[in-house]
Amino acid sequence: MGHTVILGANGQLGSDLCREWASADSAYTPLRHADIDVCDEEAVRRVLVSLQPKVVINTAAFHKVEACEEDPERAFAVNAFAVLQLARSCHALGIRLVHFSTDYVFSGDAARPYAESAAARPVNAYGWSKATGEYFLRRACPEHLLIRTSGLFGIKGASGKGGNFVETMLRLGQERGTVSVVTDQTLSPTYTRDLAIMVRRLIDDGATGTFHVTNSGASSWYEFAQAIFERAGLSVTVLPITTDQSGARVARPGYSVLGSDRLQREGYGRLRSWREALTAYLSERAMRASVEGQSEPVAEVVAS
Ligand SMILES: NC(=O)c1ccc[n+]([C@@H]2O[C@H](COP(=O)([O-])OP(=O)(O)OC[C@H]3O[C@@H](n4cnc5c(N)ncnc54)[C@H](OP(=O)(O)O)[C@@H]3O)[C@@H](O)[C@H]2O)c1
Repeated sequence: MGHTVILGANGQLGSDLCREWASADSAYTPLRHADIDVCDEEAVRRVLVSLQPKVVINTAAFHKVEACEEDPERAFAVNAFAVLQLARSCHALGIRLVHFSTDYVFSGDAARPYAESAAARPVNAYGWSKATGEYFLRRACPEHLLIRTSGLFGIKGASGKGGNFVETMLRLGQERGTVSVVTDQTLSPTYTRDLAIMVRRLIDDGATGTFHVTNSGASSWYEFAQAIFERAGLSVTVLPITTDQSGARVARPGYSVLGSDRLQREGYGRLRSWREALTAYLSERAMRASVEGQSEPVAEVVAS
């Protein structure tokens, strides 16, 4: 595969990609936000010229949905214009660029999973900034690999969101005993460890174009929360509410399940179900806590 640069290396997905590359003993350079700002075109170009990677994987993003709505300039700077500059540099230097996008590029009024070819029609600033990043990527770097994914949970937690949904639920559940969660947003929750393994396979095979990669199955946030408490062995009451009742200030797609049509068509099959992935995540989390000697509130993962 050759040398790989991983941008956003200490993020939720970035750290699992680094683990994957390290476990395969492949040469890679992890670059964190503290090492490089992807919006600094000159700095990015200098680093690429100096490291001469074969592949750049960009996980850097500004994806806190409410913050993107309040600060669209920053959302477009990180999620769109930085991608344009990166794509131009990679194309000029003969580097393959692998980039990530989101189910939030879709409007969410579909009745079945979105295919890779479905038209993007975002409903908020985050979605527009990511869709614009996709457009720039396709225009400026034809030899790209674009992976759309959804509802990420990984051991590092989304640094941009201050944890992930699983961690938020476990914390709120233990603090309050009751949580209210929306039933009218349906997605495919995805474990970053599983995603990282598939990303590696796609890169190894020289895949290009757009792929949807998520754990299999679909779930509302409400069902996801129920499964988290059930598998963690916690007795927490989950109250169903609508998005309107939640007081959300920003529109979100109602149904944003991504169909992994291309993965299946091209023989990669499907990732395991999100429920199995959730069990694996909770096991990994418990194991880490015991190795690190922390007091772990979720002592045992209840098998499905
Ligand atoms: N999280 C989800 O549920 C989800 C769902 C669908 C798609 N995605 C996409 O998946 C990708 C990875 O998401 P994630 O959950 O791994 O996010 P994450 O944990 O927040 O990681 C993103 C990383 O990017 C870094 N970053 C932010 N701005 C930067 C900049 N200007 N220059 C360099 N680095 C910068 C962040 O560093 P700091 O934190 O230090 O700023 C962080 O380490 C993103 O493209 C996201 O849009 C995520």
